[in-house]
Amino acid sequence: MQTICRGFQAFAGAAAPRREGERQLIRLDKLLTHFGCGTRRQVIDAVRRGRAQVNGKTCCDPAAKVDPEQDEVRFDGVVQSYQKHRYLMMNKPAGVITAVSDRRETVVDLLPEGERRGLFPVGRLDRDTEGLLLLTTDGQLCHALMSPRRHVEKVYLARVSGGLAPDAAARFAEGMQLRDGTACRPARLEPAGEEEGLPLWRITLREGKYHQVKRMVAAAGGRVEALRRVSVGTLELPPGLPPGSWRALTAEELTRLLAHIGEASGPPDG
Ligand code: URA
Repeated sequence: MQTICRGFQAFAGAAAPRREGERQLIRLDKLLTHFGCGTRRQVIDAVRRGRAQVNGKTCCDPAAKVDPEQDEVRFDGVVQSYQKHRYLMMNKPAGVITAVSDRRETVVDLLPEGERRGLFPVGRLDRDTEGLLLLTTDGQLCHALMSPRRHVEKVYLARVSGGLAPDAAARFAEGMQLRDGTACRPARLEPAGEEEGLPLWRITLREGKYHQVKRMVAAAGGRVEALRRVSVGTLELPPGLPPGSWRALTAEELTRLLAHIGEASGPPDG
């Protein structure tokens, strides 16, 4: 099971820590400043007032040396930690490519330049699909989310024209065959109201074949006019995140997602 890492990997660019034997030590005030607890001046003040703890003991000396790999550092009682990797969620707008680079505009191009380094999208949404897209620097998480053995659920809302066959939900549930013979795993098809005068369907997949929703809907007699992904595993598209915007995952979202992936593992990939 993967954990949110504490450590120096994310410390690139920070002042080089002092070495003492094998331990890598850094001044407490410097570390807390890098953790975003305030400006250096504010942090020095706060430490002197007793707001920092190292390994459970209040430390009032801003110059005290700590080991960010080993020592538990708290500020106002809250454990301070680095994440080794970065995790962002984006509400992908229609019209951009799910790729790191392309001659056309990509999801990574939507991020400010300073945020882009090392990030890649987890899985792929079609150019005209909107919705929840995870971007990360964590290849292991990406692999786990994409691995067919983990069966992580992805939920889509599809606006459909043309009408679906009466037995469409049963065919989705059985595991339908696409027009080219591709076999799909069992999926869920549920009515989700109406949008712009067309029926809206909630479609839950546990795999990610090329154009899968569109092809399944087509095999059931309909046509997807608009498609939006609303969740991946435990991660949900927040209502306050408009298309084209993004934010970092909260620690709680990340922890729940990692726990979910851990629970969702089956037999090894074959
Ligand atoms: N299925 C599709 O057809 N398109 C997507 O973008 C995602 C799932």
